[in-house]
Amino acid sequence: MGDNESGIVTASAPGKIILFGEHAVVYGRPAIAVPVFQVRAEATIQQRAGNVQIDAADIARRYDLRDAPPDDPIATMVTRTCARLGVAPRDFAISIHSTIPVARGLGSGAAVSVAIGRALAKFYATEDTESTERGKSRSNSVSPVPSVAALSVEEISALAYEVEKLHHGTPSGIDNTVIAYEQPVYFVRDQPIESFRVARPFLIAIADTGVAAPTKIAVGYVRRAWQADRARYEALFDQIGAIARNARAAIERGDVDALGPLLNANQTLAREIGVSSLEIETLVDAALRAGARGAKLSGAGRGGNVIVLVDEGNREEIARALMEAGARRVIVTRVS
Ligand code: PMV
Repeated sequence: MGDNESGIVTASAPGKIILFGEHAVVYGRPAIAVPVFQVRAEATIQQRAGNVQIDAADIARRYDLRDAPPDDPIATMVTRTCARLGVAPRDFAISIHSTIPVARGLGSGAAVSVAIGRALAKFYATEDTESTERGKSRSNSVSPVPSVAALSVEEISALAYEVEKLHHGTPSGIDNTVIAYEQPVYFVRDQPIESFRVARPFLIAIADTGVAAPTKIAVGYVRRAWQADRARYEALFDQIGAIARNARAAIERGDVDALGPLLNANQTLAREIGVSSLEIETLVDAALRAGARGAKLSGAGRGGNVIVLVDEGNREEIARALMEAGARRVIVTRVS
């Protein structure tokens, strides 16, 4: 399996945006998410005798797997993936690098987990197929290589979902699913994953508010608000779910014009459930004033990223308007 003459393998996973339905998806309504390939998390595993060393250079952390606290997401993914593969976690170093900004609704946590799962599956699959040859040159202190099968996409997604639970207690599973499958998904919690046809590609500008907003906080806020007024929140979630259903139908029939008003309607409801913010509203306003057909927050809200439906003809102008209104970065992704 590839890039491994010297016991090194690398695997990566994309970021994601939620187009429609965040928060309501936690309560069983449908949501739509798509991968974003311009940003990625990457895991590199290098064979090395001894305890597992973790190097998360982006967050300036280097530590031994044995010293990681029980809620450490990287260590948890490594340990659980090795358990699933039936191998003891030892005799390698793993380094993580990601261009996905943290806590901005782009799925950085799930992407890191999926990259780790893929890298470990590849590492042990490589060990399996090449063990006879490579075993000759290995140091005696490295333990014998067991025979393992590679992991399926579904298994990697399920392992990443377990780690998502560490980030916040009640994840819907949408992040790990869209990132592991790397295709647009129409996601309903606890249901088999549904992909769908994008009849006509469209462009989405993703604008970073610059505000890091942990998913856990927004999700916790919505849960308390729901507990305090279930009837109101259930009705809001129903409306968001209906938007996600209509958006899927519009995307499947290539009706890009319908998506702008649906994004705006979803943003109005996100505001009503209490997850918008001044920074989000400023970017949404700037995009609409610059001629965008629709804009909304994406992900947990309270910061993070705003997504904007743009055209070839106005993408530059809208990106400029977003930057002038305070966006830290704008990337444009094609949904196809
Ligand atoms: O991780 P984020 O910020 O993209 O948020 C995930 C979307 C939520 O619906 C708010 C939570 C979830 O688990 O689906």
